[in-house]
Amino acid sequence: MLPPKLAKMMINLSTVSPLSKGGLRGVLLDPFCGSGTILMQAALLGYQNAIGSDLSPKAMADTKQNLAFLTKSLPQLSTLNYQLSTLDATKLSTTHKPNSIDAIVTEPFLGPPLRGSEPTEAIKKIISELSTLYLRAFAEFKKILKPDGRVVIIFPILKSWPSISDQQLEQIKTLGLAPAWNVPELLRPLLTKRHSVIYSRPGQRIEREIFVFKKIK
Ligand SMILES: C[S@@+](CC[C@H](N)C(=O)[O-])C[C@H]1O[C@@H](n2cnc3c(N)ncnc32)[C@H](O)[C@@H]1O
Repeated sequence: MLPPKLAKMMINLSTVSPLSKGGLRGVLLDPFCGSGTILMQAALLGYQNAIGSDLSPKAMADTKQNLAFLTKSLPQLSTLNYQLSTLDATKLSTTHKPNSIDAIVTEPFLGPPLRGSEPTEAIKKIISELSTLYLRAFAEFKKILKPDGRVVIIFPILKSWPSISDQQLEQIKTLGLAPAWNVPELLRPLLTKRHSVIYSRPGQRIEREIFVFKKIK
């Protein structure tokens, strides 16, 4: 499960405040919402408008149950306006209007759990399937994000192999989404050469590589 602390950090990195400039509330989307960790943290941070979707009806039922528990436990959250639906992240633009989303904050499908004994060929196959999914999803993110909209996303590193290559990062840039960390000069050295931050514990087979992108065209 995505650690709630990391979910909260990712929402903050989106730089969308719960209340946006024009008085309208910022709209966050998690298109791989799983059991709803990011959406629940968004609710706790004061985001009134959020959208969650997932390919799995079971995941959607879990998200609904978790959010219902949260709003029942904390009456101040009873006015939440969260839209939840079962949807393939590679078809987001069939449901969401162009230029309608302020930020996408998500931990996508990270691949099957690893035992550690998988041969290199098997890892390469998983990576190829994951990167295809991510690039298709990014083509949709581009359509539905507002100008300057952001994507805060985790790409897994499987046994030291990044799931997105440098070349694929360039493809994402060509699509119109460029790396956009808003970090003070002093903290720049914390970023990798790929403009990412690695979040992992020693011995983990799957590490998390966090990226922030901004829609530039
Ligand atoms: C790593 S989980 C997300 C976990 C979530 N951050 C949480 O903590 O509950 C990834 C989710 O992606 C979903 N998924 C896989 N392929 C998808 C697709 N094409 N479109 C949307 N969701 C998909 C899976 O059903 C799974 O719930």
